[in-house]
Amino acid sequence: MNPDLSTRYLGLDLTSPLVASASPITGEIDVLRRLQDAGVGAVVLPSLFEEQIEHEEAELLRLSDVGAGSYAEALDYFPKLQSYNSGPDAYLEKIAAARKALSIPVIASLNGASSGGWVHYAKLMEDAGASALELNVYWVPVDPKESGAQVEQRYLDLVAAVRAAVRIPLVVKTACVFSSPAHMALRLEKAGANGLVLYNRLLRPDIDLEKLEMVPKLELSEPSESRLPLLWIGVLREHTRMSLAASSGVHSAGDALKLLLVGADVVMATSSLLRQGPGHARTLLDGMTGWMKEKEYVSVAQMRGSMSRANCPDPTAYERANYMRTLMTYATTAL
Ligand SMILES: Cc1cc2nc3c(=O)[nH]c(=O)nc-3n(C[C@H](O)[C@H](O)[C@H](O)COP(=O)(O)O)c2cc1C
Repeated sequence: MNPDLSTRYLGLDLTSPLVASASPITGEIDVLRRLQDAGVGAVVLPSLFEEQIEHEEAELLRLSDVGAGSYAEALDYFPKLQSYNSGPDAYLEKIAAARKALSIPVIASLNGASSGGWVHYAKLMEDAGASALELNVYWVPVDPKESGAQVEQRYLDLVAAVRAAVRIPLVVKTACVFSSPAHMALRLEKAGANGLVLYNRLLRPDIDLEKLEMVPKLELSEPSESRLPLLWIGVLREHTRMSLAASSGVHSAGDALKLLLVGADVVMATSSLLRQGPGHARTLLDGMTGWMKEKEYVSVAQMRGSMSRANCPDPTAYERANYMRTLMTYATTAL
């Protein structure tokens, strides 16, 4: 008998623990159907960005002739994002269309960094039928006058503002950039998060040596990147009942299984689906099923968290002691 792959995420029953995370691959209804047919348990639509909402509202003001001068500059800087997710109104229609087309949960995604008026879109997403809301908080604190405490407060205020706007489950996606990631995770829970997506990858700009320009650079992930969520989900699992989603570096069934073993409720994939196509979801799930049968696990629930920091045979593997041991082992084998 095949093991039971079902899981609960954000209070939703999912048929499998594999979720297609936000990216262009979750932006088209026919591809969403293919992802569902390949076995994903839920999909996260590509984000709607704070800048897009503010642009739309500035445009409306401009058209109604109020404050035209003050917004002209903002409009000039607005990036051409329409081809990514079609803008705010079409986004709401996409949520409704995806809900209609799919039987699995459809998670909408809002992406921003400040708790301004744009947050009311969270409610519109709920009204459009989103099963849950993923809030991607992305901020690069380049101002040395802004302290770590102020940056954290920025995140918490935004989460609280979105929490106040919606009743559907709220999951928060951030990068792992805090001095104490586990402490911050629990503060996000207190601010109203029902779950966390660990982690957002930070974009690091590069230099074009020919043109002598700074260029934004987006690279698809590598499997080794899954070890960052692996560490922090393993640490957090014993401290929270929040849903924990692992995002980054899930390319093979093995990557996904390890994240479930440390305590993830779901694992998310983007880069591997972009590289291999939606059908790769089936390959991942078949690989997971095969391994679980071989190891005689009857369900995801049975194996989830069995290698978390609290449960693994050697919890020091998560800590400093292991750091020293690892460095010394490498030195001896390399000589
Ligand atoms: C082309 C591309 C577009 C993305 N767009 C979004 C987005 O709109 N919102 C978001 O929260 N994450 C976005 N992401 C991040 C992914 O959802 C995911 O968290 C990240 O790629 C790490 O997972 P992976 O290693 O499986 O790729 C995007 C990633 C890529 C590669």
